[in-house]
Amino acid sequence: MLKLVLYFFSIFSFTDIVNNALSLPEHFGHSRFLSVNTLHPKNTNFTYFTFTQAWPTTVCLQGEEEHHKCNRVLNVTGWTIHGLWPSGGSSKEGPEECNKTAEFNSSAVAPLLKELQMYWPNLYIDTAANGFWEHEWFKHGTCAASVKQTANEYLYFLQGLTLYKEINLTNVMAEVGIVPDDDKQYDVYKILTSLKNKLNGIEPVISCFKSKRDGKFYLDQMEICYSKDFEMVDCTQQRTNTLTFRSLKDILKPETSDRHLQNCPKEGFVYYPTVHGTV
Ligand SMILES: *[C@@H]1O[C@H](CO)[C@@H](O)[C@H](O)[C@H]1NC(C)=O
Ligand SMILES: *[C@@H]1O[C@H](CO)[C@@H](O)[C@H](O)[C@H]1NC(C)=O
Ligand SMILES: *[C@@H]1O[C@H](CO)[C@@H](O)[C@H](O)[C@H]1NC(C)=O
Ligand SMILES: *[C@@H]1O[C@H](CO)[C@@H](O)[C@H](O)[C@H]1NC(C)=O
Ligand SMILES: *[C@@H]1O[C@H](CO)[C@@H](O)[C@H](O)[C@H]1NC(C)=O
Repeated sequence: MLKLVLYFFSIFSFTDIVNNALSLPEHFGHSRFLSVNTLHPKNTNFTYFTFTQAWPTTVCLQGEEEHHKCNRVLNVTGWTIHGLWPSGGSSKEGPEECNKTAEFNSSAVAPLLKELQMYWPNLYIDTAANGFWEHEWFKHGTCAASVKQTANEYLYFLQGLTLYKEINLTNVMAEVGIVPDDDKQYDVYKILTSLKNKLNGIEPVISCFKSKRDGKFYLDQMEICYSKDFEMVDCTQQRTNTLTFRSLKDILKPETSDRHLQNCPKEGFVYYPTVHGTV
């Protein structure tokens, strides 16, 4: 075990290890200057995409516990996009910040602005309006340039919106009886198996958030993975192929036996509160 851990230290930067051990959420909006990977040479290769959607009520809950101010009057009614992340390859979470000279150009995404605001919104009003997109672009988008559907900033955001609309997650969940409710708890194992039937036999990866305020678990994020030609693939299968991701997760965070669940309670019960409900 020690040998294995030391091995990991040799190939991961210290922040990778710490972030993984503590399972820190991605602090979007202001981490552009924080995550500099200096301990191993840059490899921008990746093998698949992780498309992550977030449940806005939980994003707000989590943000507010971290002293962010959340915008509760945004026009969001369901799951919103967190990001489209090149994944796999030689580092745990995939390559990041692949082009240090790239800049986020708001004019380039102007034609998408309305949809970005609705479906890929920055819920934190104490961060720059464009800050979330800028962060996602700089950290992840710049690594996707080798794929034609995501070859530039405009295409990258367009592809995120396209995937979002392809599977209307809020609808798909409602179709299997999982609707937002401020009082009800849902079984994440049941959510997984219900969604499988709707997603070509593929299970998403569900992550949960445990509130420090009330000790309850909330449905937080949903990851659906895609090959580089945007065929849906199983995230955990992709990660099993990446030795590093699987082993670190297993060593440091064995909350449940199902790799499709991250930070979810063993008993499985989580809240899926309404978007405009009081939390
Ligand atoms: C990146 O991928 C290409 C094509 O699969 C491969 O030839 C190359 O060796 C990889 N680079 C690294 C640093 O792994
Ligand atoms: C919210 O949506 C309504 C109806 O679609 C629209 O009229 C309004 O301008 C939107 N507000 C914002 C802030 O986007
Ligand atoms: C990096 O970004 C700059 C500025 O946008 C661009 O000119 C260059 O082609 C990009 N490099 C790669 C490898 O994508
Ligand atoms: C930003 O995008 C606009 C619209 O695509 C383009 O005309 C402009 O040249 C871009 N600016 C930079 C600095 O790349
Ligand atoms: C998803 O479905 C809901 C309910 O039918 C609808 O209000 C919403 O506009 C849909 N979202 C997209 C992106 O099509």
